[in-house]
Amino acid sequence: MRFDHTILLGALLATPQVINAANIPAVSITNSTTSMYQLSTDSEFAFVLETFLSLANGGGAATGEVLRSAARIAPGNFESWYKEWKFMADAIASQGDAVNATKFPISAQQAYFRAASYYRAADFFLHGNASDPRILTLWASMLKRYDAAAKLLPNPPEKVELQGTGFKIPVYFYQAPQSSGVNQSQKIPTLIIGNGYDGAQQDLYHQFGQQVLSRGWNFVTYEGPGQATVRREQNIGFIPQWWESVTPVIDWLRERDDVDIDRIALQGEHRIAALIALDGLLSLKNATLKKFPEPLVKLYESGNKSKFDDAILSALNKKSTTTEFKWGVEQGTWAFNVASPFDWIYKMGEMDLSPEMLKNISCPVFVASGQDDSLAPGQPEKMARIFGNQAHYHSFKTNVGAGEHCSIGAEPQLAMTELDWLANVFENVTKSP
Ligand SMILES: *[C@@H]1O[C@H](CO)[C@@H](O)[C@H](O)[C@H]1NC(C)=O
Ligand SMILES: *[C@@H]1O[C@H](CO)[C@@H](O)[C@H](O)[C@H]1NC(C)=O
Ligand SMILES: *[C@@H]1O[C@H](CO)[C@@H](O)[C@H](O)[C@H]1NC(C)=O
Ligand SMILES: *[C@@H]1O[C@H](CO)[C@@H](O)[C@H](O)[C@H]1NC(C)=O
Ligand SMILES: *[C@@H]1O[C@H](CO)[C@@H](O)[C@H](O)[C@H]1NC(C)=O
Ligand SMILES: *[C@@H]1O[C@H](CO)[C@@H](O)[C@H](O)[C@H]1NC(C)=O
Ligand SMILES: *[C@@H]1O[C@H](CO)[C@@H](O)[C@H](O)[C@H]1NC(C)=O
Ligand SMILES: *[C@@H]1O[C@H](CO)[C@@H](O)[C@H](O)[C@H]1NC(C)=O
Repeated sequence: MRFDHTILLGALLATPQVINAANIPAVSITNSTTSMYQLSTDSEFAFVLETFLSLANGGGAATGEVLRSAARIAPGNFESWYKEWKFMADAIASQGDAVNATKFPISAQQAYFRAASYYRAADFFLHGNASDPRILTLWASMLKRYDAAAKLLPNPPEKVELQGTGFKIPVYFYQAPQSSGVNQSQKIPTLIIGNGYDGAQQDLYHQFGQQVLSRGWNFVTYEGPGQATVRREQNIGFIPQWWESVTPVIDWLRERDDVDIDRIALQGEHRIAALIALDGLLSLKNATLKKFPEPLVKLYESGNKSKFDDAILSALNKKSTTTEFKWGVEQGTWAFNVASPFDWIYKMGEMDLSPEMLKNISCPVFVASGQDDSLAPGQPEKMARIFGNQAHYHSFKTNVGAGEHCSIGAEPQLAMTELDWLANVFENVTKSP
């Protein structure tokens, strides 16, 4: 998704070590909206359609179903977006309901996974009015189908809710399947992946999960404040103390028989073995302000909150305002659970990563950059420079369809590059006594 940023891939191992010296180029994004075939004349719709289409790579969508919705959605019209996706979600969910899931588990599972994705799609542009009841009803429909599908997997994930400091953390644990060649009675490496600004953890199974599991590792997803389920069910926006969402997950994993206790760690602590920063974002605030017109940036910097908020509200009401801007503000204020756009930007700033914070991370770090990712050009490169020899920098290329934000649509290239790097890091880790 547009602001779907740093994906933390916590590889559960110990002893950090320095690997490949980073070879970091100057920033060069191709900056071309024609680098990928566009499914809508509205560029934001086109981008989000592309993300849902990409779920087809992992069974979370079917190309024909996405292309059909894309053909019917009126560009820039949020209600049309909702209506077409709701139609498709209900239709595919009904197909799932119509089969006997005991007799035909694969058919039901596939239909429910896709229906769940389409309910998520239907919800995507509705956050402008936080009281819109559809935000909750669509999510309930989504979770019902996703969890029904997950139960029909040969190796169903375990779904738990962990207690954080003042909030609950929904988690899925997918065990590496026997078909990947692992001995399930043994403790094996485990990857924790969290989504970014606006993605749901259910997306991740289709984007990365199957790639991870087929390589013989456990796969874990979670959501913290501001993210899809926690924002809805617990009414909590993003918090700067992100580790409060991750630490309970690691603590829980350490108690498990199928996870190597010696091999758990996370960001900045010695408990993590490797970190992957997809599109290495340092400052969402800076990236966002870069997209604002100059007068609005000046107004924000002047510190006059009411004047800034009025200016944003009047921009939102203009017909000429782009979907990207409108959605960005609506999603941002919703996810941070604030009424004021000024407060949203301020709170984003509290999440900035400083060089001092990065210096606290001692494990190898994979920093990925999409050649055509216009979200925060230059930030992954800056991050990689800060990490120096500790970082492995990789630029995903537009000419082979991998240059988008998070390499959307080219997940096999992403998996090959990152997970093979990770396997080499794992290989070198010495087990503690
Ligand atoms: C990218 O393209 C847009 C639209 O053509 C243009 O306004 C912008 O300056 C370009 N950015 C870069 C970094 O070249
Ligand atoms: C569903 O299939 C199972 C297994 O074939 C069968 O035992 C059951 O009766 C079927 N249920 C219905 C409602 O047909
Ligand atoms: C937001 O949605 C609620 C519930 O549908 C409705 O009562 C309210 O009028 C809406 N607010 C705006 C500003 O549209
Ligand atoms: C799997 O691991 C268990 C526990 O270490 C061991 O007893 C068993 O022999 C292993 N199975 C195979 C097929 O290697
Ligand atoms: C964000 O922008 C401010 C002001 O331009 C700058 O001082 C700061 O270093 C930037 N932060 C990051 C993480 O790039
Ligand atoms: C902020 O802007 C409003 C509207 O222009 C103005 O009335 C007010 O005095 C300003 N506040 C400050 C602290 O400058
Ligand atoms: C780095 O870690 C140390 C020790 O845990 C902590 O005291 C310090 O606040 C951290 N620095 C930053 C910038 O987070
Ligand atoms: C693993 O260790 C060997 C020997 O120290 C080193 O040559 C190699 O670069 C390391 N590989 C990785 C991925 O860290």
